Amino acid sequence: MLEAVDLSRAFDGRVALDGLGLEADAGEVVVLLGPNGAGKTTTVRLLNGVLLPDRGCSRVLGLDPATSGDQLRRRTGVLTESAGLDDRLSARQNLAAAAAIRGIRGNEAERRITGSLERFGMGHRADVALQGASTGERKRVALAGALLHEPEVLFLDEPTSGLDPTATRDVIDLIADLTRTRGSTVVLCTHLLPEAGRLASRMAVLDRGRLRAYGRPDELAAALWPGLAVDLDLGGPATPPVLGVVHGCRGVLGVEAAASGARVRVEDREAVPAVVAALVAADVAVYGATPRPATLEDVYFALQGEPSPAAPDGTG
Ligand SMILES: Nc1ncnc2c1ncn2[C@@H]1O[C@H](COP(=O)(O)OP(=O)(O)OP(=O)(O)O)[C@@H](O)[C@H]1O
Ligand SMILES: [Mg+2]
Repeated sequence: MLEAVDLSRAFDGRVALDGLGLEADAGEVVVLLGPNGAGKTTTVRLLNGVLLPDRGCSRVLGLDPATSGDQLRRRTGVLTESAGLDDRLSARQNLAAAAAIRGIRGNEAERRITGSLERFGMGHRADVALQGASTGERKRVALAGALLHEPEVLFLDEPTSGLDPTATRDVIDLIADLTRTRGSTVVLCTHLLPEAGRLASRMAVLDRGRLRAYGRPDELAAALWPGLAVDLDLGGPATPPVLGVVHGCRGVLGVEAAASGARVRVEDREAVPAVVAALVAADVAVYGATPRPATLEDVYFALQGEPSPAAPDGTG
């Protein structure tokens, strides 16, 4: 569905993307993460064929974006950072232009445009010029335009930046829904890690044009941290003898004291009941045992070499 091999591009001799390799299946959400200037937007532009690589190649929907860009873009939708709208035109007129480019005309175009504007909460503002529209309103119109022709692959460059919390949630739900019900493939650039965590089936972490990591978030987490972290609520920090009890249980990989008890690392959740039973047998009150699977956020910060507030081993 989507593949890149050694994809590279420089601007004025400065490398923007260097040897990118990735692949994804239909219906997946590939999230591109990384600091400003990492190469995310460049990747999207290369994959959608609006920019040509200096080296390497890619395939999207079986097409080479570098040579079959027009053909490809009929089947992809794109939301760019700048939204690409004409301010002098109304939302409806902007969408009509987008529809015309896709070859959607007449009643069919009208039906889709009206439906799309309603779906994105822009029905009431459909016929006034976009000039003066808020950031979020523009984004909604641009998203409506990107989805008008029901694309098989969707490139979304920071689709929720500037959106209010409700609109952000709606867009996240929409992306999840598109992949689930229509099998659309989504390439999503974002700086919002919780949003990425909810959607990503694969995550790519870029830094100064280089791919630092690529894979399924849970597999990347498993490679970083073996087993599963579980927080034990013991009503106060675990004492060394209590830590000793936990450490002696089968399936325990490690344990350390925490403010309200201990954080224990186990091979898998099947080890938890025995840990609780051993503590109870040793007369230790156990108020709770809560698994803390590593999140995409944990993986991201670990790859950046920064501590995460929620790092699964408590240190990052
Ligand atoms: N058209 C261009 N001309 C010159 N330099 C460019 C161009 N497009 C991108 N670059 C440079 O390539 C690098 C990667 O840019 P890119 O836009 O891909 O980053 P990004 O990861 O999308 O960043 P952001 O999070 O800020 O959107 C940057 O150093 C940028 O200045
Ligand atoms: Mg960008």
